[in-house]
Amino acid sequence: MPLHVSQHPLVAHKLAILRDKTTEPKKFRELVRELTWLLGYEAMADLTTRPVQIETPLEPMTAASMEPRVGLIPILRAGLGMVDAMLELLPTSEVWHIGLYRDERTLKPVEYYNKLPDAATVQVCLVLDPMLATGGSAAATIDILKAWGAARVKQVSLIAAPEGVRTLGDAHPDVDVHVAALDSHLNERGYIVPGLGDAGDRQFGTFAGPGSEPGHGPDDETAEVVRRLQRDLER
Ligand code: PRP
Ligand code: URA
Repeated sequence: MPLHVSQHPLVAHKLAILRDKTTEPKKFRELVRELTWLLGYEAMADLTTRPVQIETPLEPMTAASMEPRVGLIPILRAGLGMVDAMLELLPTSEVWHIGLYRDERTLKPVEYYNKLPDAATVQVCLVLDPMLATGGSAAATIDILKAWGAARVKQVSLIAAPEGVRTLGDAHPDVDVHVAALDSHLNERGYIVPGLGDAGDRQFGTFAGPGSEPGHGPDDETAEVVRRLQRDLER
């Protein structure tokens, strides 16, 4: 699976502020939007164009127009903050929402929203989710999109863990993954380290108390899920 880690200095700079635990939700949302813009620009670099005839004020010419129909697929909730930036880049994109949350004990994705029509309406799908942790949410979303008939899928995330990259690569080796950073590992609760904490809570200002904090823990079942993923990485 092709993994693209952005090397752009602006991405590194903005990511540092995003990760900082003192960054408030308003600033956090602005940074998610700006980082998505930069990563989206890179992720769309190989989309095809078709020739179109236009007339400038000086003369007719053959110019280029984006060829594929593109679908943006934010994974609810945290992926929502990435939609506007992608729509600024490509305003004709369709937006299809998939709702998944990660069961906090098993770390398995649980689907709760999907209103895709019967047949795929786009050729290229860009899955938007700030965090690729175990990779379960991304792999499940891409399963849905491929069953829907999406010909090509790319994943755009801000931060990935090696465990999630491995899981997604095993499940969907054809999917390009664009990220701002590849971090060190998952902690025993399945949070990316050093990461940025909970991307949904930090965007939307929803902190459910100290028991839900990324460093709180460990739960034995969850820790065993993470150990299994880490053993897979060593294979
Ligand atoms: C977070 C994140 C991803 C998922 C990543 O969502 O936004 O969707 O976890 O984890 P994974 O790679 O291990 O599946 P969460 O379940 O916290 O839901 P939320 O966006 O509603 O906060
Ligand atoms: N989801 C998040 O929001 N952050 C993580 O580190 C892992 C999953």
